[in-house]
Amino acid sequence: MTASLSLAASQTSPSTADEQTLARRWDRWGQDLIDGITAVYPPETVERVREVIERGYAQRNARLRERDEERLLAPDWYQQPSMIGYAAYTDRFAGTFKGVQRRIPYLKDLGVTYLHLMPLLKPRTGPNDGGYAVADYRQTRADLGTMDDLAEMATALHENGIALTLDLVLNHVADQHQWAEKARQGDPKYRKYFYIFEDRTTPDEFEKTLPEIFPAFAPGNFTWDESLDAWVWTTFNSWQWDLNWSNPDVFLELLDVILYLANQGADCLRLDAIAFIWKRLGTDCQNLEEVHAITQALRAAAHIAAPSLIIKAEAIVGPSQLVHYLGQGKHAGKLSEIAYHNSLMVQIWSAFASQDARLMASALSRFPSVPTSAAWGTYVRCHDDIGWAIDDNDAASVGWSGDGHRRFLSDFFIGDFAQSFARGAAFQANELTGDRRISGSCASLLGVERALEQRDNLALDVAISRIRMSYAMVYAFGGIPLLYMGDELGLTNDYSFEDVAEHADDNRWLHRPQMPWEIAEQRHDGKSIASRVFSDIAHLGRVRAGLASLHAATATKVDVPAHPSIVLFERRHAAGNFVGVFNFSPHPQRLHVDHLWARGLHRLHDALTQQQLTIVGGHVIVPAYGAWWLTNN
Ligand code: GLC
Repeated sequence: MTASLSLAASQTSPSTADEQTLARRWDRWGQDLIDGITAVYPPETVERVREVIERGYAQRNARLRERDEERLLAPDWYQQPSMIGYAAYTDRFAGTFKGVQRRIPYLKDLGVTYLHLMPLLKPRTGPNDGGYAVADYRQTRADLGTMDDLAEMATALHENGIALTLDLVLNHVADQHQWAEKARQGDPKYRKYFYIFEDRTTPDEFEKTLPEIFPAFAPGNFTWDESLDAWVWTTFNSWQWDLNWSNPDVFLELLDVILYLANQGADCLRLDAIAFIWKRLGTDCQNLEEVHAITQALRAAAHIAAPSLIIKAEAIVGPSQLVHYLGQGKHAGKLSEIAYHNSLMVQIWSAFASQDARLMASALSRFPSVPTSAAWGTYVRCHDDIGWAIDDNDAASVGWSGDGHRRFLSDFFIGDFAQSFARGAAFQANELTGDRRISGSCASLLGVERALEQRDNLALDVAISRIRMSYAMVYAFGGIPLLYMGDELGLTNDYSFEDVAEHADDNRWLHRPQMPWEIAEQRHDGKSIASRVFSDIAHLGRVRAGLASLHAATATKVDVPAHPSIVLFERRHAAGNFVGVFNFSPHPQRLHVDHLWARGLHRLHDALTQQQLTIVGGHVIVPAYGAWWLTNN
C-alpha cells in the first residue's frame, strides 16, 4: 500500500455536494478498500475501482440515497432484536414479484423485517441449481417479472419495514453467461475470466487436494468443454463455471453487479459460496486469505457508493474457519456484516439426536469472538442440505469420535436408527469419505411426519415442542434469525419433487415446497399444526423484538453445561441480563438454581410465558424440550 494511494481522495477539493459525500466516505472506507485491493491486485486497480464506484453512486436514486443517510445514522440496524428474517423462493412463495408485494401482510403477521428471496436473476436454461447458475446478472427470471417490478417490490418492502436480501453468486456463472460464450468463441479477454486448462496436468495436480461438493451428480472439479477445447474449473455442477478472481477484471465486473443490485433496492447481498473464490495448488481451495482481502475490498467499495448495503457470507465451513468471514485480526469489523452460523445449526440437530447438550456447549464455548459490528445469521435449516460440520477436537472434548458421531447423525436423520423420530434423506452420499449430508424439512426431521404416519397425537405434541425449542434457540442467540419458508407452518417433506425432471436427482427439493396458501390460511384457527407452529414462532418474534439484550453486538456466552441435556445461553447486557435455557431431553429435567443466579439473574422471569419460575428445593424443573428466556423483569 502506498501513501499516495491512501490520500488520493481527501487531497482534492470536491466542489459539488455529491463529490463531498463521496470524498467523506472515501475517507472513511478508502483505506480498507486500498488494503484489500493491493493485497491481491496491482495498485492501479484502485483507480479503476474508483470509476466503478463513482458510476454506481451516480446511478443511485434519491430514495435510496436517503436510505443511505438513514442507515448511516443507525449503522446497527441489522443487529436490532426486531430483525427477523424469512427466506423463500419468489415463485414458490408468491409466484411473482407483484405476488410478493401482495403477501407483505403475511410476512408482517410473522414479524418479518428481512426477506431473502432466493435466486431470481436470469438463470441458464435447463438445470440451474435452483437459480444458482446465473446467465445474466442484469435481468430477472422472466416468469417473476421485470427488473422494474423487482425495484418496485423493494420499495414496497422498504415502506413496510422489510429489508431485501438477494443472492450474489460470485464463485461461478452459468456456462450460458455471455462471458462464458465469449470465452468459447476464443476471446482472450474472457478466457481469462475462467480457469481454463488445455490438458489434465494442472487439474490433476489440483484434484489431489480438492474435495468434491456434489460427488453424486457432478464428480470432480473440472469439466471438458468441446467448444473451449479445454478443461474448465467447475467446483459445483459442470455448467457452473468458476470465475477467476485473481483477474482484477472479474473483481470490477462483480463490483459493478453489486452496485447495480444495490441500486435496484437490495439491502443485503448474500455472497454465495464465498469460501471457494480463491484457488491455490496444494490446498482444498477454500477459506484462503485472499478471499477475505477481496471481501474487504468489495465491502468498502460498496459502502462508499451505497452505505446502506450490507453483505452476508455464505461460508458453510467448520467452526475454526467460519469466524474469519466476520473479520478476525486485521480484517476485524471490515468483512461481511452477517455470516450463517452453520455450527449452531449443526449442533442443534446433533443435540436433538443425541439428547445431549454437552457437545454443543463445548463447541460453542470454544468459539472465537467476532466483531461487535457483526451479526450471525442463525437458522434451524435452510434450502440446502445439512452437512455434519463437527470438529473432531470438539467431539473429542466430550469423549466422542467425530467420525462415529457424524455417522450416527446421518443414520438418525435418515431414520435408520431405532429411536429416530426423523424422516430425512441422504444427500450426496460419498462412498469414499463415508460422508452423508441430510435433506428434509424442519418438521419432518423433528418428528411431525412420523407422528402423523403413526397417528400419534402425543408424539405430534412432542415434535411441535421440538420445533418451538429449535426456533427459540435461533431467535435468542443474537443476530438475525432466518426462518426458512414452510417451517412456520410445520410443513413436512414434499415428495413431489421426484416428478419434476429437473429436480428429481436433487433431494434438497424435499424441503423446498410450494407455499400451500390454503394451509397458511389456517394459521389462526387455533388447532391445526400450521396454527400451532405459526403462533409459537410469531410469538417468539414479538417477544424478541422487545428484548434489548438480544441486540447482536452482545455475544452469547455458552460454557460447560450445567446439566448433560440442558444448554444455557448467557447474554450480559446493560439493559438487563438474559439467560436462555433449553432442554434437549424428552423428559423434564431438574436444574440447580445456582446455575441461573451465577449468570446474573436475581429474579427468574420467563419472557416467553410471562411467568415467574417456581423453585423447589433449590431446583427448577425444565420441561421436556422446554425453552425459557429468563430475564430479571
Ligand atoms: C450455495 C447455495 C446452494 C448452491 C451452491 C452453488 O451453497 O446455497 O444451493 O448449490 O451455492 O451455487
